[in-house]
Amino acid sequence: MWGLIVAAVTVAVVKSEEEAMKNLTTVSWAHAVNNKTYLEAALASEISMLEADIVLGQINGKEGPPIPVMAHPPATTSDLSLSEFLSSVAQYNNVNSKQKGVKLDFKSIEAFEKSQDQIALYSKPEIHFPLWLNADILAGPVEATTKPVDPVKFLTLGAKHPRSVLSIGWTTNYGGNITEGEYSREQIGAMLRLIHENHINQTVTFPVRAGLASNSQPVVLDLLRETSSLNSSITVWSSEGDAVEVDRLKALILTVGLERTYLDVPHELAAKLHLPPAANVKN
Ligand SMILES: *[C@@H]1O[C@H](CO)[C@@H](O)[C@H](O)[C@H]1NC(C)=O
Ligand SMILES: *[C@@H]1O[C@H](CO)[C@@H](O)[C@H](O)[C@H]1NC(C)=O
Ligand SMILES: *[C@@H]1O[C@H](CO)[C@@H](O)[C@H](O)[C@H]1NC(C)=O
Ligand SMILES: *[C@@H]1O[C@H](CO)[C@@H](O)[C@H](O)[C@H]1NC(C)=O
Ligand SMILES: *[C@@H]1O[C@H](CO)[C@@H](O)[C@H](O)[C@H]1NC(C)=O
Repeated sequence: MWGLIVAAVTVAVVKSEEEAMKNLTTVSWAHAVNNKTYLEAALASEISMLEADIVLGQINGKEGPPIPVMAHPPATTSDLSLSEFLSSVAQYNNVNSKQKGVKLDFKSIEAFEKSQDQIALYSKPEIHFPLWLNADILAGPVEATTKPVDPVKFLTLGAKHPRSVLSIGWTTNYGGNITEGEYSREQIGAMLRLIHENHINQTVTFPVRAGLASNSQPVVLDLLRETSSLNSSITVWSSEGDAVEVDRLKALILTVGLERTYLDVPHELAAKLHLPPAANVKN
């Protein structure tokens, strides 16, 4: 009798894990994991993906040539280097069955170039935790003027880590009094050209800003169709206070599919979406 119960529970757990893999919106996110205290808290939590920013700078109070450290511009100092960040996550994953992944957001090509050796230690095929390399490599809506990270250099170096997921997006200018906009056909086409011309042959995800992506369903679908051989997905993100048409966003997510959409938006927005539960779950 106990054997039966254990077997039933095991089946339920395996089933829900399979379910979760098909529903990428269940993946949870910690942001700006850029210091030791927060990294420890994130590792101790249920969160599955740790997003963190990398700049060239210094460990607090130390001097010497700039190294990759965890910080968001304009900050250039931190108590946490990229090297320590990655080794802490790897150590956690060595002794825990539920693996935590990392999304490394590179704020400049120089930071990415100087991070190559450290990334290489964890992009070996025998290491399995999710490793995402993220940068905004093209200028996007609405007429964004933030300088993108050099796209060809980013893709060329990213391809040297074939087990990593390339998370490649557009700079954006949205929020505040900018409440309308969309990804244009030209912006989507420029991304497709880069992927093609640089012979990208690894998993890709496209971070798209919720309020803009929801107005861009046709071109987002084109983008995913043209990259389906790369197991492409979108990662829908949003800043606190962004204007978002909830119904349109929900339509985008359900059209693209829960199995191809990571959802990294504030809880308040996620709750408004009321994503449908799996139809075949009957208790
Ligand atoms: C550590 O990072 C978290 C998340 O970014 C932030 O809220 C917190 O203020 C940071 N703590 C220090 C001491 O910088
Ligand atoms: C929007 O806000 C920015 C700064 O927050 C301001 O410079 C600009 O004039 C505003 N534009 C409009 C159309 O209100
Ligand atoms: C893509 O990479 C796989 C191995 O990861 C390789 O087998 C395949 O030949 C590559 N395809 C192209 C078009 O380079
Ligand atoms: C896509 O997924 C399939 C099945 O998991 C895998 O065999 C293939 O290598 C993946 N290709 C890329 C480019 O991620
Ligand atoms: C997918 O996950 C979300 C949580 O992000 C949940 O609300 C929804 O019911 C799930 N749907 C399916 C079909 O698994």
